[in-house]
Amino acid sequence: MPDTTIKIEILIHDLKVPLSVIDAGAKSLLNRQDSYGPLTEKQEKVIKRIIRNTLTTQRLVNDVMELGRSREGVVTLSRFSISSLVTTVLVEIFDLSNPRMADIIRKTDAYDSLVKTLDPCGFRVDFDTKTWKTEVCLDKAKVRQILRNLVSNAFKHRADLVEVSGRIQGKELVLKVRDDGRGIPPSAHKKIFDTYFTTGGSIENAINSHGLGLAGVMILLRDMGGSLTLDSDDGKGAEFTVVIPLTQ
Ligand SMILES: Nc1ncnc2c1ncn2[C@@H]1O[C@H](COP(=O)(O)OP(=O)(O)OP(=O)(O)O)[C@@H](O)[C@H]1O
Ligand SMILES: [Mg+2]
Repeated sequence: MPDTTIKIEILIHDLKVPLSVIDAGAKSLLNRQDSYGPLTEKQEKVIKRIIRNTLTTQRLVNDVMELGRSREGVVTLSRFSISSLVTTVLVEIFDLSNPRMADIIRKTDAYDSLVKTLDPCGFRVDFDTKTWKTEVCLDKAKVRQILRNLVSNAFKHRADLVEVSGRIQGKELVLKVRDDGRGIPPSAHKKIFDTYFTTGGSIENAINSHGLGLAGVMILLRDMGGSLTLDSDDGKGAEFTVVIPLTQ
C-alpha cells in the first residue's frame, strides 16, 4: 500500500477519538441538565443538530475504514437477517433528516407495521416473508454500506418515491433500490461510478455530493464477488440492482 494512503487512513482513524469526545460532551449537555444546567428550546435544537452531524461524521470515518479493509481483503462474516439489515439502513438514513421517524422505525418489529409506517414518507419496502426472515452469512458492514449508499442516493434524487426490495434467488441475494427522480442519462451510466464524479455544481451540491458513494459500492461489491446493474434514463427515475453471492 502506498505510504500516503496509509497516512491518510491513520489520520482518518485518529478522528475517532475527538469525535467521540464531541459526541459524549454534547449528549451530557442534553441528557444531564440537572448537573449542567437547563437548556432553552433553541439550545436543545442546536445540540441535537451537533449530535446528528457527529453521527454522520462517525459513519463516514467507519466507511473509509471499511473500504480500507476491503482493499486489503479483510472479510468479517457474520449471520444476520435481511430484516435487520434493511431496518438498520432505514434508521441510519432517517436519523439525519427525521430523527423521530428513525425512532419509530427502530421500535417497529413486524414487516406489515414497517410498511404502514414508511408509506406516508413516500418510502416503500417490498420483501417476501421468506426473504425478510432469512439469515444470511455475509460481511454485514459491507452490505450495509452498499445499501445505505444506494438508498441515500435514491432519497436525495427522488421526486416522491423510494422503493427498496429484495429476494433470495438460489444462492444469491438480490437487492433493488428504485426512485422516481430525474434519472441518469445513458451517457453518464459509466461515469457515475468514477470517484469524485457528480452532476451539478452548486455549493449545496459540493457539500452533499462527493461522488464517492458509488465508487465505494463498486469496491465493496468486487470484494464480495457481487455485481451491480443500473436501469435508468433521463426523467425516468433510477433502479440499481445489486447481486451478492451467498456463502454457506
Ligand atoms: N438515484 C439517482 N438518481 C439520479 N442520479 C444519481 C442517483 N444516484 C447517483 N446519481 C448520480 O451519480 C453521482 C455519483 O453518485 P455517488 O453516490 O457516487 O456520489 P454522491 O451521492 O454525489 O456523493 P456521496 O459521495 O456523498 O455519495 C451523483 O452525484 C448523481 O449525479
Ligand atoms: Mg451518494
